[in-house]
Amino acid sequence: MQNVFAGKKVVIGVTGSIAAFKVAGWVSDLAKEEAQVSVVMTRSATEFVSPLTFAALSGNDVHTDMFSAAKENTMAHISLGRDADVVLIAPATANTIAKLAAGMADDLLTTTVLATRARVLVCPAMNSRMYSHSATERNIARLRELGYTVVDPDCGMMACKEHGDGRLPEWDEVKEYVAQALTPQVLQGQRIMITAGPTREPLDPARFLSNRSSGKMGYALAKSAFRRGGEVTLISGPSSLPAPAGVTMQRVQTALEMYDAVLEHAGQCSVIIKAAAVADYRPEKKFAHKVKKDQIDTRLHLERNPDILLELGKRKKEGQILVGFAAESQNLREEGMKKLQRKNLDFIAVNDISGDSTGFEVESNQVLLLGRSGAELLPYTSKMHTADLIWDRIVAQLAAL
Ligand code: CTP
Repeated sequence: MQNVFAGKKVVIGVTGSIAAFKVAGWVSDLAKEEAQVSVVMTRSATEFVSPLTFAALSGNDVHTDMFSAAKENTMAHISLGRDADVVLIAPATANTIAKLAAGMADDLLTTTVLATRARVLVCPAMNSRMYSHSATERNIARLRELGYTVVDPDCGMMACKEHGDGRLPEWDEVKEYVAQALTPQVLQGQRIMITAGPTREPLDPARFLSNRSSGKMGYALAKSAFRRGGEVTLISGPSSLPAPAGVTMQRVQTALEMYDAVLEHAGQCSVIIKAAAVADYRPEKKFAHKVKKDQIDTRLHLERNPDILLELGKRKKEGQILVGFAAESQNLREEGMKKLQRKNLDFIAVNDISGDSTGFEVESNQVLLLGRSGAELLPYTSKMHTADLIWDRIVAQLAAL
């Protein structure tokens, strides 16, 4: 996958919350990703973590106040904001949020925010009572009106031994928002639906028919679309993967549930990618109670599931892009082409499942991407990079519409 962080100027504003120590790991990770990280700390943040920690991890001086910064750089309060590619405020206290909502500029961090035209991301982190106070709610709503991206805090046990909303989210999630802020928003305003994972077709409460799909390819496609600014709904069969940041998740079990969920959203989507490995058949009868082994019929009676993609192809609207996946072990191009035409698709990504380094469960993939105008063998690479390459082709098609 392209490294969106390399060489980018990331300003991290750290304010006075106990969660400040967590951001040390974030700075370290961004530095490993080759971002140029500048940390600005409020005075109270320095009570929690020493500026030296952030200086060592970022490899850059830490800015703590407007006037000492001015000694080395007379315009630090302007240049930090002006040169930034993204400003991330984490953890953001109720106090800093209130100041930002009011447009105040009484310290280096708030001044930097006013001076920047880069995307500003705010990660509130505070006691849940402070977070749910109507003053804080109003201030956060105001930040959104001002165009700042507010990443909702997590719910859980906090340092003050209270349980509730207000925990700083995990870096894996926030990192996706930073990546989004650094990526051209070519999918802005596009509603996208992606399906992923297997389906499970129950036989009784203990047993089901399913397949080897892990969901990795579909989740990577969802992540890549979110980074490009798409409004993404991910309809996922059972998968152990965490919900990708910024994506609306709908979890389903069976092919029939996936059918209902997909058709409910399909009419509003400009791009639909069906990466799910939908079970083609389900047991004819589902038993309400676990069937005892000596009562099981050794022949399983199955019935056909609806082909969701075929149905989407029939209902396809003018300008809607429909992408399917196919798992094949031979004659990839011919089999893929047949499916592309039969299901009225714009693209089909054909996975070669004959080897064990591509296709199911593994991190890597190589797909033959068939479109109406020809075939392209994408390189053998990570599923995340494959997702990016598929999106590049879809974005080009959207632009040509
Ligand atoms: N698909 C679907 N609904 C189904 C079955 C498949 O939407 N009931 C979609 C998958 O999400 C995928 C594509 O169709 O995008 C796979 O095509 P399909 O023809 O079903 O592939 P196979 O099941 O592999 O077909 P076959 O066994 O006939 O090769």
